Amino acid sequence: MPVLLFISEIEPPGPWKRALEAQMPGLEVRIWPDLGEAGEVDYVLCWKPDVSVVGTLTRLKAIFSLGAGVDHLAGVSDQLPGVPVVRMVEPALTEGMTEYVVYQVLGFHRRMPEYAAQRARREWRELPQTRPQERGVGIMGLGVLGSEAARALVYFGFDVSGWSRTPKRLEGVTSFAGDDTLEAFLSRCEILVCMLPLTPATEGIINRETLRRLPPGAAVINVGRGGHLVEDDLLEALDSGHISGAALDVFEREPLPPDHPFWAHPRIIVTPHIASLTNPDTGARVVADNIARCEAGKALDNEIDFSRGY
Ligand code: NAP
Ligand code: GLV
Repeated sequence: MPVLLFISEIEPPGPWKRALEAQMPGLEVRIWPDLGEAGEVDYVLCWKPDVSVVGTLTRLKAIFSLGAGVDHLAGVSDQLPGVPVVRMVEPALTEGMTEYVVYQVLGFHRRMPEYAAQRARREWRELPQTRPQERGVGIMGLGVLGSEAARALVYFGFDVSGWSRTPKRLEGVTSFAGDDTLEAFLSRCEILVCMLPLTPATEGIINRETLRRLPPGAAVINVGRGGHLVEDDLLEALDSGHISGAALDVFEREPLPPDHPFWAHPRIIVTPHIASLTNPDTGARVVADNIARCEAGKALDNEIDFSRGY
């Protein structure tokens, strides 16, 4: 029977062990640092693992990421055994991201940060309201998470655009693909949402130049990775008034240091990397299905391609 090693310093292992064993009776789940015999481990399920540990697993067949993002593994891919690496795609993670993105987009669209500021001044004043059909919302990254959020925003009636590496066909979404289209895409985004994976091609993509391409008064939502945003460039764009607000869930340094200027900035909403969380029950189901595929000699679902970084 296969053996899976769970490695994470932040994710409680108990619910995963219970869910995996319920999904796949006979699967032995070991929790790092209780490794046992390293040569018996077939699978690793992990978040930011110690690669030197993974390197000792001579029977390893696949590595599963606990999260959708695999930048924690891509950065050390040259030190990993040459086995498939799989990102997390599971329904609760997708639902959670859609909820977060819709919440923040509606907040900016309905001018909630401005009403919060008015409330602090005990000021009763109605602000003009734009219809969603007249509000351009753009999503960078139209993958599993981005395309589902785009569908929900289309439902609300927004003028939705998406930017990806390859063209997409999604009802109600204007698709832009490739670097040559980035400028045209940005010019439509009164609310920009970043849901890209962090790769050498996307690092620092929200910077002085790209922020300048957004319409005046635009808002920025970053749920991708902190490395997508050049933090000082955002502060400068907010201070100049060109960008009206930002909702940030991910940061260059996490936890965000207590003295970081984002905490106290009146036009930045900070959340602690909770836009979407993998659910152990639904997550264990997809991991168990993939282990069954691997044991049957089939190709794994959602394997990442290190040559493109995601
Ligand atoms: P995915 O399915 O792999 O989608 C990635 C999308 O980004 C694809 O549409 C891809 O284009 C596009 N893309 C990648 N590189 C690009 C480039 N250089 N130029 C233009 N488009 C590019 O990933 P996902 O499952 O949706 O997850 C996306 C990211 O969300 C994760 O990597 C992670 O960083 C982040 N995330 C954050 C949280 C949170 O709580 N804050 C939770 C989960 C995930 P193609 O479609 O053409 O390949
Ligand atoms: C969370 O950030 C994830 O990548 O799932």
